[in-house]
Amino acid sequence: MSTLKIGLFGCGCVGGGLYEVLNQTRQLPAVIHKIVVKDPSKKRQVPSSLISFHKEEILDDPAIDIVVELINDSDAAYHIVCDALKKGKHVVSANKKLIAEHLDELILLAKSNGVSFLYEGAVGGSIPVIRNLEEYYNNDTLSSIEGIINGTTNFILTKGNEGIGYAEALAEAQLKGFAEADPTLDVDGFDAKFKLVLLLKHAFGLTTTPDEVFNTGIRHIKQQDIAFAREKGYRIKLIGHGHKLPSGVAGFVAPQFIKNQHPAYFVDNEFNAIIVQAAFADKQLFIGKGAGSFPTASAVLSDISAIQYQYQYEYRKSDTPTNKLTPDFHLHAYIGSASLDDVHSVPMDVTDSVFSSKEYSYKTGQISFQQLRKTDWLEQKQLSLILLPQGIVS
Ligand code: HSE
Repeated sequence: MSTLKIGLFGCGCVGGGLYEVLNQTRQLPAVIHKIVVKDPSKKRQVPSSLISFHKEEILDDPAIDIVVELINDSDAAYHIVCDALKKGKHVVSANKKLIAEHLDELILLAKSNGVSFLYEGAVGGSIPVIRNLEEYYNNDTLSSIEGIINGTTNFILTKGNEGIGYAEALAEAQLKGFAEADPTLDVDGFDAKFKLVLLLKHAFGLTTTPDEVFNTGIRHIKQQDIAFAREKGYRIKLIGHGHKLPSGVAGFVAPQFIKNQHPAYFVDNEFNAIIVQAAFADKQLFIGKGAGSFPTASAVLSDISAIQYQYQYEYRKSDTPTNKLTPDFHLHAYIGSASLDDVHSVPMDVTDSVFSSKEYSYKTGQISFQQLRKTDWLEQKQLSLILLPQGIVS
């Protein structure tokens, strides 16, 4: 087998991890030929002879077979990935934002240039979920896919449960390399949404864009919400949801109280958990580190290895694209705020309970998803919206 030559873009947390992981994987005939980075002043643990600051040194080098794109800037990454595919190079990327925003275009580009475009590291870090959705569940109809798909928020929520404050926990997640360069992408549920867009494509053949998928995050969760969870024996997790309903697919990201029977209840810190409900296989759970240098690099390594045997995603579920997102459903939800008036300003179709004290108020009940995605009261009033364990009203 001839040795694959890799052109690597980015040498941060995951790029640096890939360099290490490849060095320790002697059996894989692949070497990093060139690494293009942006910042000349940064110290890096790789030989300086590999480093370049000019993307052409990879893109125009006919000796390079695979471009591995692991940079933060998704706009720059878009141009790199498009150029590489057009030049007939295989591409591996972990850039969920870029891929979620341009998936169909990139699929077409890869196809028309006869190359592979793989991105296992973009969803769930080390969890091999995309390839399983492509291969294993190929003939098994899925009715839902849901779970924890952001490591940073799970880390913050876990620490919150241990009594550590939001700012301190986020700073630690940043230090450990879990958080995005702009951590609002994590805490407001955008990162999870980008990943959900990819999961919906591979699980249901559903083509959508981040703009069409509702997300709300953990920024406004307060001590009182955590106390509510503790009192009921719940834990709060940020969950990406994809559920087939008669009217279409309900796809959104929101925090949820989960009970200890829920498969993700004990999944803590930067671990992710993805739960698949299939017609024949029934319920299955994938758990693994969803962020961090080596775990994400391991998924990238696996893609590089798959290219060695010409592996490509086939998107077979997209052959009958009957699925679309639906806004026609209701959610069991909890709304919390320091102000009872603010809690009452949220329209619920059915109110199950209201609690009010001097410091904090909340109500629970059923809220229409249409209503939820239309309004900006969550942000304006900094309300906590947390789904109750029942989730979607059936
Ligand atoms: N910021 C992301 C997370 C990194 O916390 O999950 C892995 O995609």
